[in-house]
Amino acid sequence: MGITGITYVVTMVFSLIVLILSSYTAGYDYFQFTQQYQPAVCNSNPTPCKDPPDKLFTVHGLWPSNSTGRDPKYCNPSNVTSHMLKNIQAQLEIIWPNVLNRTDHIGFWERQWKKHGSCGRPAITNEVDYFQTVIKMYITQKQNVSKILSKAKIEPEGRIRMLKDIEDAIRNGTNNKKPKLKCQKNSRMTELVEVTLCRDSNLTQFINCPSPILPGSPFLCPANIRY
Ligand SMILES: *[C@@H]1O[C@H](CO)[C@@H](O)[C@H](O)[C@H]1NC(C)=O
Ligand SMILES: *[C@@H]1O[C@H](CO)[C@@H](O)[C@H](O)[C@H]1NC(C)=O
Ligand SMILES: *[C@@H]1O[C@H](CO)[C@@H](O)[C@H](O)[C@H]1NC(C)=O
Ligand SMILES: *[C@@H]1O[C@H](CO)[C@@H](O)[C@H](O)[C@H]1NC(C)=O
Ligand SMILES: *[C@@H]1O[C@H](CO)[C@@H](O)[C@H](O)[C@H]1NC(C)=O
Ligand SMILES: *[C@@H]1O[C@H](CO)[C@@H](O)[C@H](O)[C@H]1NC(C)=O
Repeated sequence: MGITGITYVVTMVFSLIVLILSSYTAGYDYFQFTQQYQPAVCNSNPTPCKDPPDKLFTVHGLWPSNSTGRDPKYCNPSNVTSHMLKNIQAQLEIIWPNVLNRTDHIGFWERQWKKHGSCGRPAITNEVDYFQTVIKMYITQKQNVSKILSKAKIEPEGRIRMLKDIEDAIRNGTNNKKPKLKCQKNSRMTELVEVTLCRDSNLTQFINCPSPILPGSPFLCPANIRY
């Protein structure tokens, strides 16, 4: 191997190291607070939900996100135990149920913590802080999407609605910031499945969601949807 070969190998190894290091240090610059519409979640699942869903938007997760790069994942994935949650478990079951398997709430919360919450430093300091923060956002800070829609007289009646009316209602509850809406097609109709509210990096104010679902995506919402 000549000098060019050695230079090539050294450059490749160096690039690889930089790539690995940067994937570990990648951080977040905003949060996505994603809520899912339970009946639509059940419709999207190949096996039907065992328990009937409530007509509510409940929490999917709070995700530290990067507006210009890949979102951080699995940063310090410690386990979540029922002992940690003993004072808040009852509240979490209401706002953040595992819709697909209601015997496995803790498993759902633990997967969300490991994949997303563990990357939330400094805004999120530990497991319990992660779950308490979500309770505070959904209840105290009134970020309950069902309630925001209900205030604008948009109730879950399974009607066809203009996407714009839904977006405007959500904007009205979020300081006029743009949400991210995710839809899915089933055999009959396109339905709204997720609403994401975006917050700044210290979780103090709403921001316009930076990465909309793009035209061509199967999750793009059409002008009229069912809710
Ligand atoms: C977001 O990702 C980009 C591209 O990987 C990176 O340069 C940037 O530092 C990341 N942002 C934060 C806040 O870590
Ligand atoms: C987390 O739980 C798994 C098994 O569920 C176990 O193998 C692992 O050691 C635990 N990790 C910690 C840090 O306790
Ligand atoms: C639901 O969760 C329980 C507890 O983790 C598990 O034993 C069961 O297999 C799960 N059921 C389904 C349908 O995934
Ligand atoms: C969220 O809002 C809906 C609609 O107003 C309401 O039925 C539900 O109880 C609320 N959830 C919580 C935890 O406040
Ligand atoms: C917007 O919010 C204001 C005050 O919060 C409320 O009075 C009004 O009815 C809302 N309008 C819609 C269309 O949601
Ligand atoms: C929170 O972060 C935003 C920008 O992300 C900044 O404008 C604001 O001043 C910060 N607020 C506090 C209380 O640190």
